Order: sequence, then C-alpha cells, then structure tokens
Amino acid sequence: MEKIIINGGHILRGEVTISGAKNAAVAIIPAVMLSDGICRIENIPCISDVNAIIRILYDLGASIKVIDKSTVEIDPSHINSFVLPSSMTSGMRASSYFIGAMLGRFKKARVAPPGGCDFGVRPIDQHIKGFEALGAKVIIDNGMVDARAETLTGSSIFLDKVSVGATVNIMLAAVKATGLTIIENSAKEPHIVDLANFLNSMGANIMGAGTDVIKIRGVKTLHGTTYSIIPDQIEAGTYMIAAVATKGEVLVKNVIPKHLESITAKLIETGALIEEFDDSIMIRSNPNRPKSCSVLTMPHPSFPTDMQPQMTTLLAIADGVSTVTEGVWDNRFRYVDQLTLMGAKIKVDGRFAVVTGVEMLSSAPVHASDLRAGAAMIIAGLVANGTTEVDNIEYIDRGYEDIVEKLGALGADIKRVRTADSNLRKAAL
Ligand code: UD1
Repeated sequence: MEKIIINGGHILRGEVTISGAKNAAVAIIPAVMLSDGICRIENIPCISDVNAIIRILYDLGASIKVIDKSTVEIDPSHINSFVLPSSMTSGMRASSYFIGAMLGRFKKARVAPPGGCDFGVRPIDQHIKGFEALGAKVIIDNGMVDARAETLTGSSIFLDKVSVGATVNIMLAAVKATGLTIIENSAKEPHIVDLANFLNSMGANIMGAGTDVIKIRGVKTLHGTTYSIIPDQIEAGTYMIAAVATKGEVLVKNVIPKHLESITAKLIETGALIEEFDDSIMIRSNPNRPKSCSVLTMPHPSFPTDMQPQMTTLLAIADGVSTVTEGVWDNRFRYVDQLTLMGAKIKVDGRFAVVTGVEMLSSAPVHASDLRAGAAMIIAGLVANGTTEVDNIEYIDRGYEDIVEKLGALGADIKRVRTADSNLRKAAL
C-alpha cells in the first residue's frame, strides 16, 4: 500500500513549476476523437486521471506516440468504437466526455456512467438535456448511457445549473453539428476556454468561451493541430496555500495569474504578500499567524470548490474564527473529521463550516477521502508537529504531478512509500 509520510515544521522556500491543467487535459484529450488528423498535445500533466483518459483513447483504437513526459501525439483515425464499458472508464468523472465526443464523431455513444470523487450526488441531467436539444435520443440501457442521433442540429440550450461537465459535453457534441448551438448559463472556467481554443485550433468556430453564453457554429470537419494545455489553476493554488501555511516564500512558476485571482485575493485577506508577474506568482507569508476570513465557493470566477479543502486547512491554523460555505457540492466536507484528528476545531453543518483557528496541528495517521482532500491532508502534515502519514494517496495521484518531489525541492521533509507503478506513460518512457 502506498502512503505519503511528512515530517512537519519545515518552511517551504524556493520555486515550483506548475504542470498542465488536469481538467483541461481530460476534456481536450477526448476531443481529439473529433479530428481527422494527428493532434500533438503539449504540457500534459503526468497524473493518473490523464493517463487513464489517454489509455481509453488507446483502447478505442487511437495511435498514441509518447514524445516526452508532457507531450503526446494522438492519431484518432482508427478509432471505430462508440462503446465505453465501465471496465474502461476507471471510475473517473471525465469519462462522460466520451459521450459528447463519440456523439460528435459517430452520432452515437454508449458509455458507462461516470464515477469520480464522491462529493454527493453527481447527476448528468444537464448533459443529457443538451444532447437531446441537439437531436439525440438518450436512454439508460443496461446501466449504460446510450445516446443516438440521425443528425445533430444546432439548438439553444439554457443550463439550469452552471455545469463544467455539461458545458464541455455539449461543446463536443455540437462542434460538428449542423447550424448554430448557443449554450446559455455556461460554465466560465479556464478549462472551458482552453477546450474552445483547442477545438478552434482544429478549425472549429466557437465564440464566447469564458462568458456565460457560448456560440458554436458547426463545421463539417476538424483537422489535426499542435496545442499546449494551460497551467493547472488548482495545483498552483495548492502550492500557494502550502507556502502561506508553512510561513514560506515561494515563486510559483508557469501560471496564468488571472486564473488565480480569487485565490490570490483570499490569501491577501489572510495577510500573505503576493506579487504577480507575467507567468509566475511570488508568495511571501506574513510572519504572524494567517488571519481568519470567510470563504464561499462558487463557479468561476469565484473561489473554486476544488480549493476549498486546502483553504479550510489554512484557516484551521488562522488567528480567529472563519466560515467556509460550499456553494457547488452537497457533500464536500467529508475530510474534516481527518483534520479534527490532527487537532483542528471545525464544526460542519451541511454545506457550511465554522473553523476556529488553533495555534498548531498535531500529526496523526489520516487518509485522503478525495483528490483535493488529499492535498489538504498534505498541507496539514506540512504544518503539523511530528510525523503525519497520509494513505489512500491514489486520489492525490489523480491530480498532482510529482507532488512529493515538488514539495521536497521546496524544503519539505516528505516521502512516498511506493509499490509498483503501472502507469502507461511512465512505462512507455
Ligand atoms: C468539474 C470538475 C471538478 C469541479 C467541478 C466544479 C472536471 C473533470 N471536474 O466537475 O473538479 O469540482 O467541475 O467546479 O472538470 N450538476 C447538475 N446536473 C448536471 C451536472 C452538474 O445538477 O447535469 C450539478 C452538480 O451536482 C454540482 C454542480 O452542478 O452541484 C457543478 O457540477 P459540474 O460543474 O458539472 O462539475 P463536474 O463537471 O462534474
């Protein structure tokens, strides 16, 4: 069994380079299916969720050429299956993007329901509403989502709820549909813009990505491209918080500062000093304890839900009482009992938490209950007295490339107790 072991109390200092964005990569890689040519994708994060998505394309018949750790060339011309059974989806949320991509390519898709981190109910009704508006018939058959269309025709879709997944999936299904599709109340996350930029680089005609109205004029064909994925907003935010929590001084490189504005603003409220450059951010913590504050997670450009566990961990050692309100997911405080084991004083009521800061956390064996909760446990371990063991770290590997190595280079005393590594790309290198 793999664990991460951290001896706390070391100040983080130095530079860290952020990898490509997970949530952009897991949308862009399935989108390659829509291309008639070879796509070269650069700045791909080497993480298990992305490796699993590449593996799915390979299993469907794509040729994959690994150029280096962060670059692959994908030739989708031999993909001829529109079926994705649960044995191929690895229980990951982004497997649902194959419904949109297969619909766009074959006008039919049969995909096992998506899995992913458990934050409560994760419906796909808005995805289905979009597919149906484009002319597909969608049923759940024998545990599979089965979507089929004679033709896909552009349509107006108003999302009842801002959904990243539904916005991505409708874009994928609509990009080669006939006519104009308008997605209103669409998600505005940086990875939505990145997917639109990727599709446009293949010859798509998508306007408005990054606003709440996206217009997609269908095109007949898409060609191959070379594209570099944006840096990961959440990985960057995690290192920014780790720097502040350990009273460190860290230059976070390969970032788009604009994508980090809500995180930067919240860290400034806690007393951190932040300097933005073109593609990096310098974080200098205040020598005093961080100040308490209130946090509300909402869709972009508000504070991201995927930073909520890390931020709550910082507030657990802040001076004063903070409140954290989860505005996206029903059940995203499951990690709090682990922080409590480490001495945090947090009371949760549904989507609301009151965090009474303590001077110090103390080490304990804890587990990662999901990807970002795992990152929160690592931050807690970095600041705690003594040795913290974090297990279930396969969650952390879904979204953080080389986290042990990156934190180690910043001065953390952290190691992974590893077993075998079966990851496709590492084996291929
Ligand atoms: C994506 C991210 C995830 C992040 C989330 C919110 C990926 C691979 N994952 O997840 O890390 O936490 O955005 O920023 O990009 N909803 C519905 N019906 C739907 C779809 C969603 O009611 O058809 C609800 C969800 O239950 C949730 C909210 O909408 O309450 C947001 O979900 P959504 O934006 O779709 O999240 P994901 O795309 O699954």
